[in-house]
Amino acid sequence: MDRLFILFLNLLMVVHAAANKIEYGKFSILEEFESLHVEEENEVEDPDIPSWAGQRDGKVLVNVDSFGAAGDGISDDTQAFLKAWAMACATPKAVFLVPPGRRYLVNATRFNGPCSDKLVIQIDGTIVAPNEPSNWDPKSARIWLDFYKLNGVLFQGNGIIDGSGSKWWAASCKKNKTNPCRGAPTALTIDSSSSIKVKGLTIQNSQQMHFVISRSDSVRVSGVLVSAPGDSPNTDGIHITESTNVVLQDCKIGTGDDCVSIVNASSNIKMKRIFCGPGHGISIGSLGKDNSTGIVTKVVLDTAFLRETTNGLRIKTWQGGSGYVRAVRFDNVRMEDVANPIIIDQFYCDSPTTCQIQTSAVKISQIMYRNITGTTKSEQAMKFACSDTAPCSDIVLSNINLESEDVTVETYCHSAEGFGYGVVHPSADCLSSQDKDLISIGWAQEAATVRPIDEHIVHTEL
Ligand SMILES: *[C@@H]1O[C@H](CO)[C@@H](O)[C@H](O)[C@H]1NC(C)=O
Ligand SMILES: *[C@@H]1O[C@H](CO)[C@@H](O)[C@H](O)[C@H]1NC(C)=O
Ligand SMILES: *[C@@H]1O[C@H](CO)[C@@H](O)[C@H](O)[C@H]1NC(C)=O
Ligand SMILES: *[C@@H]1O[C@H](CO)[C@@H](O)[C@H](O)[C@H]1NC(C)=O
Ligand SMILES: *[C@@H]1O[C@H](CO)[C@@H](O)[C@H](O)[C@H]1NC(C)=O
Repeated sequence: MDRLFILFLNLLMVVHAAANKIEYGKFSILEEFESLHVEEENEVEDPDIPSWAGQRDGKVLVNVDSFGAAGDGISDDTQAFLKAWAMACATPKAVFLVPPGRRYLVNATRFNGPCSDKLVIQIDGTIVAPNEPSNWDPKSARIWLDFYKLNGVLFQGNGIIDGSGSKWWAASCKKNKTNPCRGAPTALTIDSSSSIKVKGLTIQNSQQMHFVISRSDSVRVSGVLVSAPGDSPNTDGIHITESTNVVLQDCKIGTGDDCVSIVNASSNIKMKRIFCGPGHGISIGSLGKDNSTGIVTKVVLDTAFLRETTNGLRIKTWQGGSGYVRAVRFDNVRMEDVANPIIIDQFYCDSPTTCQIQTSAVKISQIMYRNITGTTKSEQAMKFACSDTAPCSDIVLSNINLESEDVTVETYCHSAEGFGYGVVHPSADCLSSQDKDLISIGWAQEAATVRPIDEHIVHTEL
């Protein structure tokens, strides 16, 4: 199906190209988008994935209960977890086991690697955080369960990681302006790690962000459920920072902030089958805060369902930043009652004080939206609010159908250039292709390098 569609798309573009030489410029942009795919995880299970119940395949079970964990939800099991961790981490083929049916109260803890080969972290029970912010260790102000410098580790199980966040939410300045604006812990952090898989866990009611992947490479997250009330402040679902080659698939996320947020120094981020809502949508950014540099490239979302979120597909940057967001493709997204289904906001300002007008900006280019349908709650179903000094360029829209039951929908553009093909509703004629002349000048050189059609057909595995 999809191969045929791509073939069709390529042929279509050739026909257009013949009719209008300007299309060659567009053609090469589309070709770049096609090179971004989401590979499916190999369906054949890794034979090394253990059945924790036994010591099969030479796996060594390290059960937190054997190290004195009470699992009653009241006693502090932090020391037992640390002792079990020291053993599991030092033992090849270990399974660090949090057994089912019990609740383990664990304080802010850093689980340090590197560890011996083939470590499995099997969480079947519930791990719960102390619920009182005033007792939280100030040395670990921003972490709860923090895994550091792991390589080749599998996290799995049907267990729950519960941040007990309600008192933290009440203490947030977003909830009550008399509160000081202080950061709260992230429930689960995977930091400075590589070749990590996370399967099937539930992360809920985090103090702030639920799951942060930072400074890591090659992380695959599948079947993870993230949940917190829609009014819990800053409780992002999965936050990716300074990380490369990350795949999120089959995740269901409903929180009080972004379902997924992708920030600085992240590249090659792939998302497949993401359910989002409530929340603030799927975001790239924010980037460029306090005049910083933000760079995000190669992001693909394929197949998502967003329901009653305040944004759908969002790119948000602060004025005054630098860097760029480039090569992003959003495909096959269904929205239901989403307030801002498609939005680029280069005037983002999540601050108690108003933000200064500044000229520099994070440059946004090569952003494609394809097969995006559903209902919008706001009149501006598509909004491209780009910087005057660094206009958005090469925004491509195809097969968009966003409707509202109550109002006539429209597209807002400010300083945004691009084009649409196929059905685009609401119409995006406001995307100026003002540099048409530049494209046609560029075309003269580019046309010389255009390869035969067969080589243009890039098959995806989707
Ligand atoms: C957690 O750490 C804090 C600060 O170090 C301490 O006061 C508290 O007793 C510890 N345990 C629990 C269960 O909160
Ligand atoms: C905000 O916090 C102040 C000080 O703690 C408190 O007096 C006030 O009742 C709170 N307001 C709301 C709306 O919770
Ligand atoms: C963004 O990432 C780059 C490259 O890693 C780094 O130099 C820069 O300091 C980062 N910016 C922020 C705001 O962290
Ligand atoms: C960012 O740059 C602007 C313009 O140079 C300056 O006025 C402002 O103070 C800077 N902001 C920060 C947080 O450094
Ligand atoms: C468009 O996206 C929807 C929602 O993900 C999907 O069900 C449908 O198959 C897609 N259509 C095409 C032509 O890919």
